[in-house]
Amino acid sequence: MTPPDTNLYLVGFMGTGKSTVGRQVARQLGFQFLDSDHEIERAQGKPVAKIFAEEGEPRFRALEREFIEHGHPAQRCIVACGGGLVVPPGMLELLHARGVVICMHAPIETILKRTMHTNHRPLLQVENPEQRLRELYAQREEIYRRTGTMVLTDSRPLREITGHVLRVYRLEAAHFKK
Ligand code: S3P
Repeated sequence: MTPPDTNLYLVGFMGTGKSTVGRQVARQLGFQFLDSDHEIERAQGKPVAKIFAEEGEPRFRALEREFIEHGHPAQRCIVACGGGLVVPPGMLELLHARGVVICMHAPIETILKRTMHTNHRPLLQVENPEQRLRELYAQREEIYRRTGTMVLTDSRPLREITGHVLRVYRLEAAHFKK
């Protein structure tokens, strides 16, 4: 059996470990790893926070859509998607048409711990970031649940999470039809 070439899209809330896990999975599969935020930053020549500040969130969402539609190879890559990428209508369908979608999941308490000491996320540059995170998490929970198989990234070693993602990917990629 030849190994699948199908892309893998890792979606889920900020701080669920999409990039960390994605890099490991890419290494194991010999695929290219891409992080949608970094690719957009590279193409635009400025950080995500600056895009939000200067051009607004709708522009950033349009750049995310552009990246998924035309900005990356159609095969053999693992894409860690920014947390809000899958939220606008139609984005989930776009991802499903291009590859396997797996959702990284972690409880809100873990996400709070993982994100509170960082300052590169424009959506959390508010007076009460914890409240903002809880609101966003509540708003998006339902959307993430509909994206695909969920993999818990809390309280277990990275090796185990990577193994779980690889098993789900191989199973789903074997049935993937373009
Ligand atoms: C966002 C998540 C971020 C980044 C931007 C908006 C969101 O990516 O795309 O700050 O709307 O949840 P991470 O999930 O990699 O933090």
